[in-house]
Amino acid sequence: MAEAHKAVSGTWATRWTFILAATGSAVGLGNIWKFPYITGEYGGGAFVLVYLACIAVVGIPIMMSEVLIGRHARRNPINAMGDLAVESGSTRAWSLVGWMGVLAGFLILSFYSVIAGWALNYTADIGMGLFNGVNAKQTGEMFGDLTSNPGRLIFWHSLFMILTAIIIARGIHKGLENSVRIMMPALFVLLLVMVGYSITSTDKFGEGLKFLFAFDFSKLTGEAILVAMGHAFFTLSLGMGAIMTYGAYMPKQASIGGTVLTIAVLDTLVALVAGMAIFPIVFANGLEAGAGPGLLFVSLPQAFGSMAGGQIFGTIFFLLVSIAALSSAISLIEPAVAYIVQQHNVSRLTATICFSLIVWLLGLGTVFSFNIWSEVKLFDKNFFDLLDFLTANIMLPLGGLLISIFAGWILKRSVVLNELAMQNLVRFNTWRAAARVLSPLAVLVIFVTTLYKAFS
Ligand code: TRP
Repeated sequence: MAEAHKAVSGTWATRWTFILAATGSAVGLGNIWKFPYITGEYGGGAFVLVYLACIAVVGIPIMMSEVLIGRHARRNPINAMGDLAVESGSTRAWSLVGWMGVLAGFLILSFYSVIAGWALNYTADIGMGLFNGVNAKQTGEMFGDLTSNPGRLIFWHSLFMILTAIIIARGIHKGLENSVRIMMPALFVLLLVMVGYSITSTDKFGEGLKFLFAFDFSKLTGEAILVAMGHAFFTLSLGMGAIMTYGAYMPKQASIGGTVLTIAVLDTLVALVAGMAIFPIVFANGLEAGAGPGLLFVSLPQAFGSMAGGQIFGTIFFLLVSIAALSSAISLIEPAVAYIVQQHNVSRLTATICFSLIVWLLGLGTVFSFNIWSEVKLFDKNFFDLLDFLTANIMLPLGGLLISIFAGWILKRSVVLNELAMQNLVRFNTWRAAARVLSPLAVLVIFVTTLYKAFS
């Protein structure tokens, strides 16, 4: 059997640091912004159920595959896939999965940064009291004022990219490890405060719960299922090598199965709690659940504007959304930086500056899709929608599918068994059945049926 690879960039301090960093990557705009708004667009409960099923059947096994590949190779995804493939008697072409991941990371971060910029803008605006006493209609208009103004969007997008670049340039250990230790628990507590507000200040908590959990299967379309699966990948940071890169820094003795389960459960809880905080407010104010990307930015500020201490809570809340976004953004660009640094000996600073500039430029497309390019459409989607669809619903599932096949069929069983270190063979075989057959099949079936429906 191959000798253990040496860690190129050191390892996390403890198993918990890995959990916090990976949870920091997983918990972000996907949970607090995207999950509520797509749940609203695709009609609620049935969509949520499909999403939960995808987390369990597809997400968790694939996350285990990513971590084990990363930890075994101890390198960035491009080299990890290539090296392990050759070592297992297969072709180096597997490194293409790593390349696709790097591209997906750039594309995602380009729009992610623009949306995170909204959160920064709201932190400042609520902090200055601009939302005190506003009603639902006014918050809608204020959101429109922001998105129709390219200059404002570019300002906040730039700021967010600069913050991301600073942390990346300083290396993930110090910046990331320390910030997630404080920020993740704090975010969780604040979300609970928001739910508390939803329960006590609106009489719509039941309606919100019903919307989230009562399944009306008549609303479930093929596209909704594809979006639910894509979101499972997006929210767990899967399919592009982010978790693989973090796995490369994971201590040897930590258990992969238990760790991954913890991350997936925390991530899912945050999404559900965010939904429980937002929908009652939406219904209580007669807002539209299917309002799209602006949902979080219209419903919550209105609540903060009218609650006692709302100015402070609102500021802290959007600050934490921004920071949750930051700890995710880092993981979108770290694989590319790790590759250049490890493979080509470029300095971390140079790599960071170049990649951040590319991502920043791409982000302008998203900025303009909310204003001057809002009518420029392909397949009925503007630039932002197109990027979102292409990455979350095509590239990530495809990457995940290949990663799963790689871990299940290409890597030697003994290598995987050793890496997962599962005492319980039933568990190991369950994972392996999922990685080899169940997860790839689920992804394929959803792909094929959606395409079939789209063209028939
Ligand atoms: N999971 C993050 C969120 O929900 C976004 C994210 C970070 C991501 N890294 C990723 C998505 C890698 C896909 C792939 O906000």
